[in-house]
Amino acid sequence: MNVEWQVGPMPEWKADAILFYAFEKPAEGPSGLELWLQNAGQWLKGSAGFQDFRGKWQELAVFYAPSDQPIPRLITVGLGPPGEFDLDKWRGAVATGLRKCRDLRLPRPAVPMMALDGLPWPRDKALQEALIAGMLGLYRFDQFKTKDQEQRFDLEEILLLDEKQPDADLYAAVHAAGAVGEGIRLARDLVVAPANQVTPTFLVETARSVAEQHGFQFDVIDQEKAQALGMGAFLAVARGSREPAYMIVLEHVPPGAEQQSPLVFIGKGITFDTGGISIKPSERMELMKHDMAGAAAVLGAFQALGRLGTGMRVIGILPCTENMPDGKAYKPGDVIRSLAGLTIEVISTDAEGRMVLCDALSYAQRFQPTAIVDVATLTGACIVALGDQVGAVMGNREPFIQAVQTMALDVGEKLWPLPLWDFYFEDLKSDVADFKNVGSRKAGSIVGGIFLKQFVPREIPWVHLDIAGPAWTEKDLPTAPKGATGFGVRILVELARRWPELSIT
Ligand code: BES
Ligand code: MN
Ligand code: ZN
Repeated sequence: MNVEWQVGPMPEWKADAILFYAFEKPAEGPSGLELWLQNAGQWLKGSAGFQDFRGKWQELAVFYAPSDQPIPRLITVGLGPPGEFDLDKWRGAVATGLRKCRDLRLPRPAVPMMALDGLPWPRDKALQEALIAGMLGLYRFDQFKTKDQEQRFDLEEILLLDEKQPDADLYAAVHAAGAVGEGIRLARDLVVAPANQVTPTFLVETARSVAEQHGFQFDVIDQEKAQALGMGAFLAVARGSREPAYMIVLEHVPPGAEQQSPLVFIGKGITFDTGGISIKPSERMELMKHDMAGAAAVLGAFQALGRLGTGMRVIGILPCTENMPDGKAYKPGDVIRSLAGLTIEVISTDAEGRMVLCDALSYAQRFQPTAIVDVATLTGACIVALGDQVGAVMGNREPFIQAVQTMALDVGEKLWPLPLWDFYFEDLKSDVADFKNVGSRKAGSIVGGIFLKQFVPREIPWVHLDIAGPAWTEKDLPTAPKGATGFGVRILVELARRWPELSIT
């Protein structure tokens, strides 16, 4: 979706519709609307319809101008009471307004910069979030729909209106929004697409194309190479599948940063999780195509970072395989030797995420990372604990956990901490191996985290994000239609851009 600036005096602005936002009456709305009414919207003043608009949250009204007006429609979106207003509401309001424009089949709607005044953020921040929200709210996945194609309609561009030339911060906001929006779209496309398309091989090709576009280094560890390296846990999961498995390694090295200790992002890439021999019930199993949402988030973040740039050296490691039942599949009771040399007694083959992630965590050590973040749809228990709009954050450093949580909330991705106290490990004690891959049913998400913690040296700051809930939404949300959300992309992008200022050791 294109974004175009239109700079000139207010009465000369031209668009299919102009969008404004208003707080719930009797509060003052953002002052820009008043200004526009005086300068270009006199036709509206005093009209009964306009008086009736209350500005309630999600309230939306369309006003039609007399035919001599250059902009035929004003669309107002309610922001609710100022006391309840936040960034999420802002994003939701913008997405709602632009979706209305799409429903009305308006190719070129406009947002005037003065509509951003009176909001509790500087213009550039409000604009960046508005454009991201617009892209996300208008997201659609219709690649496999063959019918009614001609009836679908997409906006041609969003016009940004101002009386004076926009400053550098506003240009930067548009650029950043485009990059982040594109990263999230990529992640959503990968997650929502079915597992017969998005195989580990497909993820390799996608990663290769992201790498080529942005000049990232790119490496794939196939099963033969994984065998030579000793990635027994990753290979155990891969054994049941006819699809070749790959550990993908992407690397962004800014000029002169070859020696820098990198941030490592690890994403769970189970392209389909049947549960394996510990097979899942068939009801809703189709959802398990989304079990590669962690890998998709990392790919989306790299896609965004490629355009945004960052001074940080960043490495992505994506263990990608299906988890299938098969005559050759790994079995409950098997003892597996991981890359770290630690042995794992398999209790459930459905706890495959931690199996592939533990070898990725060990492999990460060779890069001497400054920090590691892993992102995974790891446990159904996480949805029980936090619901499907919140991810869990765990780790080995309190300040790191807190920083990631704060940063995530700031960009509209909700994370909540769970503890990784050592006593939880008792649940994983095994009679035959170093530990089991599953404990009792208690504290399922934490035990998943504790398992991973065994593979991270204490000296390395590490956080684990369990995104089993927020990776997918069962209902339409203001900035995410039902389906894949792209959750995690923004957290990783923020982290890559702000890591140096966090000073976590
Ligand atoms: N991919 C699932 C977790 C999941 C479940 C994600 C539902 C999203 C929605 C994971 O591999 C899994 O099967 N976890 C098991 C863990 C158990 C065997 C300890 C689970 O959640 O039941
Ligand atoms: Mn599983
Ligand atoms: Zn899984």
